[in-house]
Amino acid sequence: MDSVQAGRMWNDNADTWTQLSRAGYDVCRDTFNTPTFLEVLSDINNLEGLDIGCGEGHNTRLLARRGARMTGIDISERFIEHARAKEEEETLWISYRVADALHLPYPAETFNFATAFMSLMDMPDASRAISEAHRVLKPGGFFQFSISHPCFDTPHRKKLRDEEGNAYAFEISGYFQKLDGEVEEWTFGTLPLEKQEQVRKFKVARFTRTLSEWLNLLLDTGFTIERFAEPRPSDEVVLQHPNLQDARVFPFFLIVRARKQP
Ligand SMILES: C[S@@+](CC[C@H](N)C(=O)[O-])C[C@H]1O[C@@H](n2cnc3c(N)ncnc32)[C@H](O)[C@@H]1O
Repeated sequence: MDSVQAGRMWNDNADTWTQLSRAGYDVCRDTFNTPTFLEVLSDINNLEGLDIGCGEGHNTRLLARRGARMTGIDISERFIEHARAKEEEETLWISYRVADALHLPYPAETFNFATAFMSLMDMPDASRAISEAHRVLKPGGFFQFSISHPCFDTPHRKKLRDEEGNAYAFEISGYFQKLDGEVEEWTFGTLPLEKQEQVRKFKVARFTRTLSEWLNLLLDTGFTIERFAEPRPSDEVVLQHPNLQDARVFPFFLIVRARKQP
């Protein structure tokens, strides 16, 4: 599967994704994944930033509110339409563009930093996406991204529960199995069951890589790896959203910050 085909699937997901995430159902993003991403982020005030795979622009807007001059790109026209509509409601001076992360339409050394929130693992050629991010960064610029944690988002995963029904472990296998565009259907886990039946499920092509493949891609591109984080929900968040207890058994996500040589 190529990025255009994978992108078409995302375009078909865009309306439901936008509606549900804006209604607060992307609880992992809102309660611990993006908050941790922002904790890891260095000062971006007055910097030129590129958000790669920006979707409907939620995280791009958070970066703009921190003072960065943001550009958001996404392969899905529908996502970009939703993002632009929001920009018309509240001007944050974000410029949105339909573009493929594997062929960024910008000259070399354009941006001070680039971000990719949960988008790189949805691309068939992460190596190309990482080298494109590297190309458009100015010397000394940084690239920070989040992905599904490669060690735990494996083809086989089964929850093991204790007598009270709480998850205490996960059975994991298939780590070295290479998924290359296999399509998975899912929706936000916090959506009530009756609503899950009513909404169109997201169809997402999966491309798996091991942890060492991800890290070596960055190193081979010339990045220096600077910071890691493995977000998890706080006690208070789990009290509010008990099904997020799973995210305290193992890390759902991995955040990496890497820097281009000055
Ligand atoms: C899981 S969503 C994340 C969206 C957004 N960053 C967020 O955190 O809410 C993945 C996004 O990556 C985009 N995407 C997938 N492949 C892409 C590609 N080759 N180029 C640009 N965007 C892509 C999808 O259209 C989708 O918006």
